[in-house]
Amino acid sequence: MTHCPYQNQASSTALPIQQSLLHTETGSAPRAVSRRSKLSWWQNLVAKLPVPSVIQALWAMRDPEGFFRARSGGSELFTVNLPGFSTIHVTGTAAGAREMLSAPSDVYRTIPGSPIDAVFGANSMMAVDGERHQRQRRLIIPCFGPGKAKGLGPSFAAIAQKYLASLPEDCVMPLQQLMQDLALDVIIEVIFGVHDAAGKARFTKAITAFVAAATPSLLLISKLRHRIWPPWRRFLRAQAELDRCLLGQVRHLRTHPDEAQGSLLRVMLNTKDPSGDALSDEELRDELRMLLVAGHETTATTMTWAVYYSLANQNVYEKLRAEVRAASEDVHGYEALPYLDAVCHEALRIHSVPPFAFRTLRKPLVVSGKELPPGSNLALSLMLLHGDPNVFAAPREFRPERFIGPKYDLFAFLPFGSGVRRCIASSFALSEMQVILATILRRADFSLATTTRPKLILKHINSGPDRPIPVRIVKRPMAAVQDDLGLATAIAVCPAPV
Ligand code: HEM
Repeated sequence: MTHCPYQNQASSTALPIQQSLLHTETGSAPRAVSRRSKLSWWQNLVAKLPVPSVIQALWAMRDPEGFFRARSGGSELFTVNLPGFSTIHVTGTAAGAREMLSAPSDVYRTIPGSPIDAVFGANSMMAVDGERHQRQRRLIIPCFGPGKAKGLGPSFAAIAQKYLASLPEDCVMPLQQLMQDLALDVIIEVIFGVHDAAGKARFTKAITAFVAAATPSLLLISKLRHRIWPPWRRFLRAQAELDRCLLGQVRHLRTHPDEAQGSLLRVMLNTKDPSGDALSDEELRDELRMLLVAGHETTATTMTWAVYYSLANQNVYEKLRAEVRAASEDVHGYEALPYLDAVCHEALRIHSVPPFAFRTLRKPLVVSGKELPPGSNLALSLMLLHGDPNVFAAPREFRPERFIGPKYDLFAFLPFGSGVRRCIASSFALSEMQVILATILRRADFSLATTTRPKLILKHINSGPDRPIPVRIVKRPMAAVQDDLGLATAIAVCPAPV
């Protein structure tokens, strides 16, 4: 057994960020029964105490689920205070989610100078509102339609196969590392359209430096974002180098129209709205940085949880492995495997990587019977929503079966948000996760090389495991993989019993 040399150093640091497919026929969100009775005495006490914002931030970072549960005190709408923000009103129920995310877009505004600007870029779609936001969404969405995502399956599979081929036959490596490397390769190759080794190495280096420079303190404390503060200068330098790489790629593809035909950047370069409006080079640069930040850590960490919880529940792992190995080699079929799909949804539910959807009000809004005035901050805690025992029985248990059969209310399960800011890449992310997981689980056997359970913490503005999760990866002989394929073909051609 070997300890794997890490493939992409970029992934040794976590990225600093951050459809419901399921709905009931009636569509009415069940209002959660008060959770107060389920809280311990000290959680009830803490809910009432005026805890200083720095302590709240530290607590939220160490134990986000416990923090939100304790602060909620069982109420449908409660407040938290984090440094850099005034009071934040938080909801964690399906009814609150419906009220918040169904509101018209002009009810909300973005806040200039927020942490979003620092990381995603002040001109990116995430940082702007109103007509500007709608325009950018219109021009980017053609990249991410469900049809487009399905067509990318072979690219996702090729990336996973190539990566696995580069590993020793038998090795131990942190699961996060594997998933972050794969998700980064997807972004660099499939989105940016960079395939040559030198180009990939340059991008990887620039992304690594950018990620390492975006420390939580810089994101949370706006006063530190000043040129006299060396860490901020380091961040700006790293951002400038990444932006140079991105702008260079945009300009290169403009002047080489035959290159990177399958990439999403090529689609963006070719997209115009009916009036002929298109994104400028500088806008494209900012959108690419936003896609990197929004799309890397989210997908990598969700895949990490999917594999971790499957390995920690052997019956889940065996069922999943049997399903993917009995499937045909046609990657388009991976997206239709019911158990794999359920494992991905359960991973999205059990730990929502973006911990909340955040809004600032431009106009008053009534949430859980309380009118919030303009200027209020409002957050939907996806952790509370997806951990509601009234909707998801035994919410701390990893049970993919809960996603086979019954449909949940549209606002009870929102891994990709909802409304005008719903994730533009939900189909892309699901397809990426399904194809990558099926590809690696077919070609290698996985087992946990630790008995320590990881805890959930907040890193920057995303959640993730608090420690590396070492896994043993033993590659299967090609003959065994071929045997699976023979079996799959036999099943496919076998006439149905009469
Ligand atoms: C498992 C993976 C993912 C999860 C769980 C996820 C989750 C989310 C959520 C909850 C939102 C809504 C935030 C809000 O309402 O404030 C969102 C928005 C967004 N996501 Fe994702 N996402 C994932 C993958 C991706 C990927 C792969 C990309 C792009 C490559 C991406 C790009 C975006 C963008 C651009 C937005 C902002 C949309 C807007 O402001 O109009 N996401 N995502």
